[in-house]
Amino acid sequence: MSLLLALDQGTTSSRAILFTERGEVVASGQRPLSQRYPEPGWLEQDPEEIWFSLWAAMQDCLGAVPNATDRIVAIGIANQRETTILWDRHTGRPVHPAIGWQCRRTIPICQKLREDGLEPVFHEKTGLVLDPYFSGTKVAWILQQRPELRRRAERGDILFGTVDTWLVYRLTGGRLHRTDVSNASRTLMFNIHDLTWDEQLLQILDIPPAMCPEVGASAGEIGEIDRQWLGRVIPVTGMAGDQQAALLGQGCLKPGMVKNTYGTGSFVLMNTGQRPVPSRHGLLTTVAWSISGDVTYALEGSVFASGAVVQWLRDELQLIGRSEEAEALARSVPDTGGVYLVPAFSGLGAPYWDEGARGIITGITRGTDRAHLVRAALEAIAYQSRDVLEAMREDSGLWVEALRVDGGAAKNGFLLQFQADILGTAVERSRNLEATAWGAALLAGMGRGLLSVDNLPAGLGFDPPFLPEMEQNIRETLYRGWKAAIDRARS
Ligand code: G3P
Repeated sequence: MSLLLALDQGTTSSRAILFTERGEVVASGQRPLSQRYPEPGWLEQDPEEIWFSLWAAMQDCLGAVPNATDRIVAIGIANQRETTILWDRHTGRPVHPAIGWQCRRTIPICQKLREDGLEPVFHEKTGLVLDPYFSGTKVAWILQQRPELRRRAERGDILFGTVDTWLVYRLTGGRLHRTDVSNASRTLMFNIHDLTWDEQLLQILDIPPAMCPEVGASAGEIGEIDRQWLGRVIPVTGMAGDQQAALLGQGCLKPGMVKNTYGTGSFVLMNTGQRPVPSRHGLLTTVAWSISGDVTYALEGSVFASGAVVQWLRDELQLIGRSEEAEALARSVPDTGGVYLVPAFSGLGAPYWDEGARGIITGITRGTDRAHLVRAALEAIAYQSRDVLEAMREDSGLWVEALRVDGGAAKNGFLLQFQADILGTAVERSRNLEATAWGAALLAGMGRGLLSVDNLPAGLGFDPPFLPEMEQNIRETLYRGWKAAIDRARS
């Protein structure tokens, strides 16, 4: 039986998963990935470690199944988006640490662009807002700090890429400098209407066009991995940003369908079909994918901290020993006792876009214990998703009937029940929480001509849905409390 290899390079780990064409997982490998915080609000990663962790995850995965490599017919890549890498075209070596998507170092650049009245130009052309989240100001920052790199970039010696581009470059033995439309649409330099790097925006950001990768479809003949990595030449035929891949992996193929992935952050995407829908309520307009010449767009609400809140409780506050303990602790109390936790660790993303906001805990009394805090942290994940769905309703006029969910924190039944309660909407958990990897595998299968977008395998289906049980007046009272806490966290 032929197999599809999905590579999912995320913020905290790299994964490799082997799928059958029907969506069954045959084997998987996972390696953790470190993050560095050199200054408050900054976040860096090592591009070599990103590559090595993915390579090692691939070895772990393939080592688990005899002759697996010989049965792989195509490879698909999904990746953490916006994280920015610069490297030397001739040596293939990075010339700067990767600047992570959560990194806030470019706040002053964004402020200056706003003061110059340029936000509407960026918004209209890219569908994004001026926030340090996106790659463009990260590239601009490196070139401002390192004039010698700018000179080399102008000569065409320095290449820019998001993580997909970096991985494809390494996988193909340095032969390909390429991205896909979904990743390009997260850079603040890419025009999502004519699907090209935008000369005016590159000029404003002072970024030499020669640094930018070639942009292609999300499925099709992309390249071939070098024989040295798996002992065989295997075609790469799918690539997309991880959240767009998850939208596909969740089967959200029709306009109006919505998914939420609870990863480091939460990313709610609504398929809007062949039309970019501009947002007036703090959402992003983004490219979902391009398959067989058809471009699909999405509205996105990017929430910067969700699973990261549980990690923070575990690693920094040490209130829990393992993430899995959070659910039982949250259930051990009937409510948070009036406590709200706003995890604005990297400012607030959608729909507020407040880069100066900072995390707060409100409503503490002498009776507050760790169970209340843990419960407040999990509830915050759900409140943030409601904030985004409220904005989607205002932009699209539609209230979502069912929210499809996946990602690590979707294992947490308390979170999903509270999510259904606070939305008043059914929450459907994918049986395969690796929807991102499955989306990458689907793209690879389509790119190889084995699958067609009109007839995709359903994957593994859904668990029985979490249905809302909370009374309407309690739901709205709790949500009002959350909005008051948000007001206090804002800058
Ligand atoms: O936009 C950032 C997003 O792509 C990161 O995803 O899964 O690494 O948290 P993840």
